[in-house]
Parts: sequence; structure tokens; C-alpha cells
Amino acid sequence: LQNEKESLYIVLDYAADFFRRNLSDTDEGRSIAGSYFRERGINSQSIEKFQLGYSLEKWTALFEDATARAYKEELLEKAGLIVRKSEDKVYDRFRGRVIFPIHNVSGRVIAFGARTLRKDDKPKYLNSPESDVYHKSKVLYGIFQAKNHIRQQDKCYLVEGYTDVISMHEADLPNVVASSGTALTTDQIKLISRFTKNITVLYDGDPAGIKASLRGIDMILESGMNVRTVVFPEGHDPDSYSRELGTSGFQKYLAEHEQDFISFKAALYASEAARDPIKRAESIKEILYSISKIPDGLKRAVYVKDTSRMLEMEESVLWSELNKLMIKEQ
Ligand code: UTP
Ligand code: MN
Ligand code: MN
Ligand code: MN
Ligand code: MN
Repeated sequence: LQNEKESLYIVLDYAADFFRRNLSDTDEGRSIAGSYFRERGINSQSIEKFQLGYSLEKWTALFEDATARAYKEELLEKAGLIVRKSEDKVYDRFRGRVIFPIHNVSGRVIAFGARTLRKDDKPKYLNSPESDVYHKSKVLYGIFQAKNHIRQQDKCYLVEGYTDVISMHEADLPNVVASSGTALTTDQIKLISRFTKNITVLYDGDPAGIKASLRGIDMILESGMNVRTVVFPEGHDPDSYSRELGTSGFQKYLAEHEQDFISFKAALYASEAARDPIKRAESIKEILYSISKIPDGLKRAVYVKDTSRMLEMEESVLWSELNKLMIKEQ
């Protein structure tokens, strides 16, 4: 199995190089993908750092090149690079897309994310399937490029997307990883906690997205990490907003809007529930539920005090509710 993994790493590395050469050495790549990156403001340093590339429109560009280099069809298929149509017919999985290689923590290519260049094409991002070296739930995009910065800053930004990671690097905030649009898993939290206990979540600015991700954050609290959050104006994500504000404006925005997660959640619910007693009770339970996840008793006490102030609710009442929740959990 070790040998099988090794051959996957080798063919994935070859593929990343093939996609990169398509971008720099072909007319199609230079004009189509080159201008796409330029229009998005992705600079050549980022293209190099993240090994960005392009998959040609032709149905069998990679398959033919790889076969000429003696890579076996079976291996290409296992690596998710080609798709089998019938017994004797295969084609490239990624065609006419810009390529974002996904690296593991030690910098080896394990998969690809591939973005369409057409506006309403679905899916927007086509990703490699799982393989013996790619387990989506254990990987964070950008971890290799970020890990030393995360350790040095003792802080990790968590964003949703590939281009958010790249734009954060360009805004001198390289301590960043992406969950790639899915809910965070315990394996991913463990990976981050090898480098820091401080995580700042940067959501895309849509209200549905924010509410949906609140639960996932309880898992980060449960792991004992300190969680902060920044919310962006509706319709923006870290990529689009950093491009709009520029490096110093964006850094300033983060500094001024970063807030503790529990306080953020309390404020979110407090504003919603101000005059409705039923909603108010539900909100308090929601917040206490998050507090109950925090392993450190002292931290819990601080949050109960804060919440009591923010929601104008007796501390003793909050404590008795919190204790009930914590007994139920055991
Ligand atoms: P978004 O829809 O926010 O995309 O999904 P984005 O990163 O802002 O992409 P741009 O700016 O339009 O290029 C966030 C992340 O969810 C995953 C990708 O990892 C994406 O970066 N995703 C999204 C997919 O895997 N497939 C999709 O079809 C869409
Ligand atoms: Mn496996
Ligand atoms: Mn989104
Ligand atoms: Mn986005
Ligand atoms: Mn985006």
C-alpha cells in the first residue's frame, strides 16, 4: 500500500506540473487562464506559491500526455485524473478549468480543485474524488503554505474558499486555511491545533451561511480552542472584500471587526430576540449550549458573566440552566 500511495503522489505531482505548463506554455492557457487570473487580481507570485494551473479544453489532453510518459491508465483513474466512459474509452476529468492543487501538510499534491471559467457552469468547482491519499474530511486547503505562519502568529484564519486563501496571502495574512465550503470536521480541527489554539472564522457574508455554520463552531469550542469571528457585508467573502478594500483597509477591517465567538453569537441572538420572550428563551439556550462545550471552567464563568450582562439575565439563572445542559451532556 505504501508503494501504491507513492505512485499516486508521483502521478499527482506530474499532473500539477502538466497543468502549470498548460498555463505558461500554451496559447490557450496563456490567453484564457492567464487573463482569468489577471482579471481576478491573482498575481504571479501566488500562481507560483499555490502551483496554479489550467486544464486544456481538449477531452484527452492529460490522458495522451501521461500515456506518452508511460503512466498507466489504472493509476490515472485511481488518482481521479481521468474518468472511464466505457471499457476502452476514457477522458480527462478536468477540462477548460483553472486548477488549484490541494497539498497535504508536508506539501505533496493530493488532489485538485478546478474552477469553471464560464459564469453559470455547474459545478463551479469540480474537485478530485477521494483516493488513498486524499480524504477530504482530513484536509485543509492552504495548510502547507500556512503552517509556519500559523505557528509564528499563534493564530489561524479559517475561510471557505480557495481564492479566499490566496487573497489573504496577497493581503499579507498568510496564516489561513480553507474548509473548502463544507462543515469543519474534528480531524481538521486537530490539524489546526497542532499549530495554534487560536482560530478566527471568516464567513462569507450571507445570513444563511452564518447561521448554518454556528453549530460547526461549537465543535471548535469543544476542542478547547479560542474562537473569534469576523463577519463581512452581505455578498462579500474575504477574497472579494480584500480586493475592494486593499491590503491595509482589509487588515484594518479585520482588526476592528474581530470579535469573540460567544459574544458574537450572543449579540446576534440578542438583537433578534429583544422583545419576543419565547425567542429570548431560545436564544439564551443556544448561547448556553455553546458555553457548555467549552472545557475550561474558568472560561465558562467569564462567558456566563458576559452573557448575563448582554442579555440582561440574572447570572444565577444562567448558571442553573447551564448546569442542567452539562449534566445532560454527560
Ligand atoms: P463559494 O461558492 O463561496 O466559492 O464556495 P468561492 O470560493 O467564493 O469561489 P469564487 O470566488 O467564485 O471563485 C466556497 C468553497 O466551496 C467549495 C470550494 O472549495 C469553494 O472555494 N465549492 C464551492 C466546491 O467545492 N464546489 C462548488 O461547486 C462550489
Ligand atoms: Mn485510505
Ligand atoms: Mn459561499
Ligand atoms: Mn465565497
Ligand atoms: Mn469568492
